[in-house]
Parts: sequence; structure tokens; C-alpha cells
Amino acid sequence: MNMTSSDIAAQFKTYQDRIEKVLDHWLPASELSPTRLHESMRYSVLEGGKRVRPLLVYAAGKAVGASEEQLDGPAAAVEIIHVYSLIHDDLPAMDDDDLRRGKPTNHKAFDEATAILAGDALQALAFHILATDPRMTDAPQTRLEIIRTLTHASGSRGMAGGQAIDLASEGKELNITELENMHIHKTGALIRASVLMGAMADGQIDADRLERLDHFAKCIGLAFQIQDDILDIESDTETLGKMQGADEARNKPTYPAIIGMEASKEEAKILYDDAMASLSDIGEEADLLRAVADFIVNRKH
Ligand code: IPE
Ligand code: IPE
Ligand code: MG
Ligand code: MG
Ligand code: MG
Repeated sequence: MNMTSSDIAAQFKTYQDRIEKVLDHWLPASELSPTRLHESMRYSVLEGGKRVRPLLVYAAGKAVGASEEQLDGPAAAVEIIHVYSLIHDDLPAMDDDDLRRGKPTNHKAFDEATAILAGDALQALAFHILATDPRMTDAPQTRLEIIRTLTHASGSRGMAGGQAIDLASEGKELNITELENMHIHKTGALIRASVLMGAMADGQIDADRLERLDHFAKCIGLAFQIQDDILDIESDTETLGKMQGADEARNKPTYPAIIGMEASKEEAKILYDDAMASLSDIGEEADLLRAVADFIVNRKH
């Protein structure tokens, strides 16, 4: 990789600032009725989070030569789906958490009904963006394929399905195959969709390259949740911006709980190496993608 760590930090910041503006643009103003719902949507989406999924959309798009304008819509849509999943994940009926991104969770700052509706409305907004953003590709087939990718990743065969498995698994002993399956769905699916949507954004990608980027995405998607499980044990509440130790408190099956801490770190590293190998035929245009993968396994929050 030819990028220095300060180049990487600068590029991350550029794209994080960019997505903030794009998100702000699409979110309804708080003054617009129903104001409490719009306030709560803006509360959870804006000014928070690492924006890993948008970074992956921009980085994958850059690797294939898509323009930033073509990538803004998919980047915003996947982040909005992710935030909806976080709002619902934190509800008392799910993980029952009070802290998210360093501030009270949506249902604590507002109320449970508003949090449920904010999630519902954000999900609809994500697909509204993909259906209408005029700066995305003007090839209808590509737009439809991008929409299909995100619907699949969000639904019962993707994130929502993974969340169902997660909830059904509390207090249970999963084997490693079952645990991997849960992680691939609840977290891996949206990470994978981020890379795929970026790669498809200009409608030019060939099947072979898409396949290799997909392999990259599957590996880092699983590595992302393994690292999330590790940080729940090794980090602290202040750094995480969410409650440390929440998994153990709710008896969640996690990688460290099932295979141990050292084996979990080893697994994340193996997945990272496998992900990197699948980029071997792409030159420096994939350096940002390599940097995001690196961040995913080495992050501290
Ligand atoms: C947290 O995701 C939830 C998981 C899928 C593990 P992130 O770690 O990306 O959370 P934010 O967006 O930075 O807050
Ligand atoms: C969340 O997994 C996955 C989704 C939100 C879809 P976690 O429950 O581990 O996420 P955190 O740790 O609360 O962020
Ligand atoms: Mg959860
Ligand atoms: Mg949770
Ligand atoms: Mg977690």
C-alpha cells in the first residue's frame, strides 16, 4: 500500500465529511411535521459513528473508477439502514442498551414508539434515495440491481434475519458454524452490500472482478463483527461510545465466548489476509479499500 497513515486519515475525514452533508441533505428537516419523528431520525443519523459502510462504498467505487456523485446515494442509503438497525437493536425488546455513539440511545432520548417509527421511516428513506437520487447511474438496470442488493442485505435473509438468530441465541451454546452464520447475516450482510453497491455504481464492472470484491467483502464483514465482539470485552465504555460488557451481561454467544480471545484475534487476522489477497490484481486504486479493511480489524472503537 502506498498511502501513508496521514493520507489515509485525511481521506477518511474527507469522505466522512462528505457523507455527513449527503445525509443531512436527505433527512427531513426537524421543523417539518411530524417534528418529533424527524428530530429523532436526525438525532441518530447525524454527527456520529465511524461511517465504515459509506467509507466502503466510496472505497469500492474508487477501486473501480466510479464517480463520487454516483456513490453518494448508495453510501447514504446503507448508512441509513445501518442506523435504523442500531436504533432497533438498542430497544428494550432487543439488546436493551442506553448508550449509543456516546449519547443516550434513541428510545432513551425520545421514547420507544418514536424509536420504532424512526427505524421504520429510515428504512423507507434509504430506498427512496436509491430510487430517486438523480446523480446515481442513469442505467435503470444498474439502479435496480443496487436496490436489490440492499433489500436482500437488509431483510430476513440478511441483517434482520441475523438479528432474529441473535435474539434466539441468547443464553445458548452455538457451535462455530452457527455463530459464523449469525455474524454473516446480522453484520456481514450490510458490509458486503456496501462493497457491492460501490463496485456496481457505474455499471461497468465485469463479473470476475465483482466476484473478487465480493469475496473481499464477505471476509471483512465477518471480521468486522468478530472485532465488535472482541472490543465488547477489551475496550471501555468511553472509547466505544456504547456499554462495554453488554454481550456478557446478556449472555450473547460471541467469538471470544465460543472459541476464546486468542483464537478470535487469529480468525480476524486470517479473514483480513484472505480479504487482502482477493485485491491482489487491483493496483493503487484499491488502496483506500485496503485501508478501510485495515481499520476494520485494527480499530479500537
Ligand atoms: C455497530 O456498528 C453495530 C454492528 C454491526 C457491530 P459500528 O461499529 O459500525 O457502529 P457505528 O456506526 O460506528 O456507530
Ligand atoms: C448489532 O450487533 C448488529 C446490528 C445492529 C444489525 P450488536 O448488538 O453486537 O451491535 P452493538 O454491539 O450493540 O453495536
Ligand atoms: Mg444486537
Ligand atoms: Mg447491540
Ligand atoms: Mg456488539
